[in-house]
Parts: sequence; C-alpha cells; structure tokens
Amino acid sequence: MKILAIMGSPRGRGAGYKIVKMVEERMKAMGDAEFEYLFLKEADLKPCIGCFNCVARGEDKCPLKDARADIEKKMLEADGIILSSPGYVQNVSSHMKNFMDRFAYTNHRLRFFRQKVLLVANSGGAGLNETLAAMRIALGGARVVHELGVGTPPWPQTIGAVAKKEKAISFAAEKFYRACLDTSLPSPTFNEYMRFLIQRNVAFGCKEWLPADFEFYSGKDYFYETKISPAMGAAARTLVGLMMGMMKDMGPGEVKWPMEAKK
Ligand SMILES: Cc1cc2nc3c(=O)[nH]c(=O)nc-3n(C[C@H](O)[C@H](O)[C@H](O)COP(=O)(O)O)c2cc1C
Repeated sequence: MKILAIMGSPRGRGAGYKIVKMVEERMKAMGDAEFEYLFLKEADLKPCIGCFNCVARGEDKCPLKDARADIEKKMLEADGIILSSPGYVQNVSSHMKNFMDRFAYTNHRLRFFRQKVLLVANSGGAGLNETLAAMRIALGGARVVHELGVGTPPWPQTIGAVAKKEKAISFAAEKFYRACLDTSLPSPTFNEYMRFLIQRNVAFGCKEWLPADFEFYSGKDYFYETKISPAMGAAARTLVGLMMGMMKDMGPGEVKWPMEAKK
C-alpha cells in the first residue's frame, strides 16, 4: 500500500516527524507499506491569495503556478494519507493551514473517496484536540480513520507517559494499516447521502456564482457509482427538501450586500 505523509511542521524533521516514523516502522512490520513524505515547508505550494477562483470557477483557474495539481495527483494515487501538524496556539501550523486552504475546493467537489486518513497532532500538551479537529475536513471525501494526539513537551518524560504514547502510536498504526487494506467504495451512509443532496442543491441554486460546482454535480446521483437504497433515498430527499425550505433566507436573493457606500 502507498502512504503519503504530509508534514506540517516548520521544523521539518521535528517531534511530529519522529511520531510518523514510528507509525511507519509499525506499519512496515505488519506488511507492505511504502511511505513518501511531503514536507510542506519545502513544497512548492504558494500561500492562498483568496481569489476564490478554485472554489467558484474551478481549481484549474487558480492563478498560482506551483505544484498544487501534482500534490493532488499524489494524494489520489495514495491508499492512505497522514496529515501531521504541531499544535501552534492550539491550532494547526501555518504550513498546514495553507495546505488546507489550497485544497478547500475539494470540500465543494469531493474526490478522495478511496483514501483513508490518519491525523497526527503533537504539541507541548495543550490544544491537541483543537489541532486534530482543524484537520478533520481538510480533504473532501476522505475517511478519517483515526486521530492521534501526542504530547511532546521539551522536557524528559516519565516511563508511564512514554509507555502510554507508544501504545497509542501502535494502536493508530494498526488501525490505519487495516483501514488502508480496504480500497472499496462503500455505499453512502444516510448523512453522507444527505451531504451530497445538500451540496447538489446549493450547486444548482447558485449555478451563476458556483459554475464549477454546477458542472460537477450535473448528471450525478451520487459522487460515484453506487447503490442507494430506495427507502434511504426517499427519506433523505424529503428531509433535504424541508431543510432547503427552512434555509431559503440564505439566498440567492435580490439585494447586493454589503451595500456600496453612497457618494
Ligand atoms: C508558535 C508556536 C506556538 C505553539 N503553541 C503551542 C500550544 O498552543 N500548545 C502547546 O502545547 N504547545 C505549543 N507549541 C509547542 C509545539 O507544539 C511543540 O514544540 C511541538 O512538539 C513542535 O513539534 P515539531 O517538532 O513537530 O515541530 C507551540 C510552538 C510554537 C513554535
């Protein structure tokens, strides 16, 4: 299996790298696991300039000329993706945040359905949950199979704490390895199907403002070929119909806002 580890530390090979290397060693002991590391601090991935072209008009309309498309290709070729970030002020590092911003369009037009994700956060001890939570939706369509938060304070650890961390790393490696063996595309759960219907509705309702989404969702009954049970389909469509009615106020409407200042 192919694993791509995306490393968000500005230090490169710091504490987070040591943890991911431990995951690698354990996975290799279980069987075939080929690891590739992408260090975001060295990657050709420019800072997002906020033009919104990738979301609205399509990622091919991004004005930044860099390796974004190559990185997406690498992710699509992987069976498993590790997202690793140190906790900075109880959130992800700026490198990881930029990576997430540059792939924001994948939450509009989901694509990583075959990929399993392991999230790894490390910090002095605070903000591990917040850092993990921030990475949870980074890759549209991917299944996060485990979240590993490890305290890596700059002082020596007690034997008990080290044993606990080692156990957590072994558990994460095993769970991730097993998940990556399954390359099937599962039938969607009720919530996943709901999400598809909502996003398709928004795309159709806002086709003028989100033409790339409109094109993506046109002619699709789900993100990929799969069976939707008639009962689940009917229940989800009814619920989404009600929800869209309740959310009518969100537009599109007639008023341009914020209003332009009167001269
Ligand atoms: C700018 C900055 C902010 C940080 N914020 C936190 C924090 O909110 N909570 C915490 O426990 N550690 C914090 N740390 C400590 C790092 O998370 C910790 O040193 C981590 O092990 C670094 O991982 P790395 O070696 O993989 O880069 C911060 C470090 C830096 C440089």
